[in-house]
Amino acid sequence: MCGIVAYVGHREAYPIILKGLKRLEYRGYDSSGIAVISDEIKVYKKQGRVSELEESLLGVHLSATIGIGHTRWATHGEPSDRNAHPHLSQSGRISMIHNGIIENYATLKSELVAKGYQFKSDTDTEVLLNFIDDIRENNECSLEEAVRIALKRVTGAYVIVLLDEENPDTLIAARKGSPLVIGIGKNEHFLASDASPIIEYTKEVVYINDYELAIVKGDELILKNLGNEKITPFVQQLDMELAAIEKGGFEHFMLKEIFEQPDTIFDSLRGRLDLANADIVMAGVQKYIEELKNANRIIIVACGTSWHAALIAEYIIEELCRIPVEVEYASEFRYRNPIINKGDVIFAISQSGETADTLVAIERAKEKGAIIFGILNVVGSSIARISHAGAYTHAGPEIGVASTKAFTAQLVVLALIAFKIAKEKKSISEERFIHLLNELSAVPNKVAEILQNTTEIKRIAEKHADATSFLFLGRGYNFPIALEGALKLKEISYIHAEGYPAAEMKHGPIALVDENLPVLFVATKDAYHEKVISNMQEINARKGKLIAIVTDGDTSVSELSQDLIFVPEADELIAPIINTIPLQLLSYYIGVTRGLDVDKPRNLAKSVTVE
Ligand code: AGP
Repeated sequence: MCGIVAYVGHREAYPIILKGLKRLEYRGYDSSGIAVISDEIKVYKKQGRVSELEESLLGVHLSATIGIGHTRWATHGEPSDRNAHPHLSQSGRISMIHNGIIENYATLKSELVAKGYQFKSDTDTEVLLNFIDDIRENNECSLEEAVRIALKRVTGAYVIVLLDEENPDTLIAARKGSPLVIGIGKNEHFLASDASPIIEYTKEVVYINDYELAIVKGDELILKNLGNEKITPFVQQLDMELAAIEKGGFEHFMLKEIFEQPDTIFDSLRGRLDLANADIVMAGVQKYIEELKNANRIIIVACGTSWHAALIAEYIIEELCRIPVEVEYASEFRYRNPIINKGDVIFAISQSGETADTLVAIERAKEKGAIIFGILNVVGSSIARISHAGAYTHAGPEIGVASTKAFTAQLVVLALIAFKIAKEKKSISEERFIHLLNELSAVPNKVAEILQNTTEIKRIAEKHADATSFLFLGRGYNFPIALEGALKLKEISYIHAEGYPAAEMKHGPIALVDENLPVLFVATKDAYHEKVISNMQEINARKGKLIAIVTDGDTSVSELSQDLIFVPEADELIAPIINTIPLQLLSYYIGVTRGLDVDKPRNLAKSVTVE
């Protein structure tokens, strides 16, 4: 899940690539590098952030109109200068960047070592590069042909882009499993892992599919498959504005994206929630409404925060649609050989639409005849392209590594889908359906209300910022929100945090509770409220430092804790969307108070494109 950028055309390549790497830094920030051709190939790389590479290149003459750049999330070989990309072949003639994992690199490496190759790094990438170069030399064929031959021997995932000293006007690129988009300009082309480095230069893009090869010059883009057959590029228009990927005056993308939620939630409802006709309009759902209504079961596959959205969807769909739902960690589902019957419906939830665990899991399920329904944020992403149908969450580009606005948009879209199925199945009354539509339409304002005054959340965050451990508890629809609160805090503050169903505490975890442990309850008014209050008393009895998210005007818990965060009242099915906001802010303010980079937390990356 590295970020790759490349350029060929008439402009200076370095500034374009450097800016592109900064835009993609959320995909990995262990090291970065750039290679250009001016007379010969020149490679510059550095451990750490792109800004450190930029610093190290001050005063270096880098004039060139072709180049490749990479920002790394380390898989094979620790973060270091020598493991940074781009790599240079032993012949010195070719340089390459790579996003993905070459699973059989050890076999290829031993073949090359037997031929006398020596390696400067510990990476799988350098092995593939020399494997390609070796084929080119021994077969006396073009680099393009050598790449085609080599990739037929490779197992794993990759986007690779190669620079060739003897063809200084041509880039060779190929893709399998990792994302690649090519921007088409006037006599210039931009290559990148996603559209964010491209948007300011052109809106005309081509999304490259698996097993496709691109031969790119300034004035020419040729696509071929590994069988050397030409493919007509499918040019699409980007539906994104540059402002969407700028901080817009906020200190961090995470804070900007938290504050965008009244708008992004509205955008995920726009054109779908039809209050006037008491209906929900979603083309993808309508296309498969019979399969959805009559599904024997719905399996939801996801990772991380998206998996928490899946848990909420399970509760809502089972309650309203009376269809059994199974929620699966994609990485486990992928390898445990699950029972999938023809016609089973699989929901794939993913912000990026590129998460390898989810992508491969649904590829397998699709082969077994399942219907794949994608709930995705990134338009044109890999999961979108293999899904039978789906719904975009319309949260806009999410740059902060910790998912915030995409999560609440997922909850909104999943609720819309469940309400629609329930209406079509007549498994809920028209009156309940209309009530839920009104509740959903009120969410943007309720979220705006919370964001108007974050003083109390900030105070509580600063009070607990030096915690070493943290518990998040909830029941019913608030249980997955407790899990999400714990994940956000772990990602952003590096504090060990766990989420639990509140009643589960007495079966063991309550042993953790003492006067040093902050315990946050998501305790808004719902069917479980009385039970949650008794669970809070159990924690209070063990002197736990109680914090609670409660419904406006609820005085039933004021005796139990001084740290209360009030949120507007909402139906219990809708409340998780609202209750998430204070948890996002709490983790943000604790992260900032601890002086951490909340947009690029250590060891993480925005989209996990390797298994
Ligand atoms: C959430 O804050 C994390 N970035 C991570 O858990 C993320 O949710 C997970 O990697 C899934 O990503 P996806 O939604 O893009 O598939």
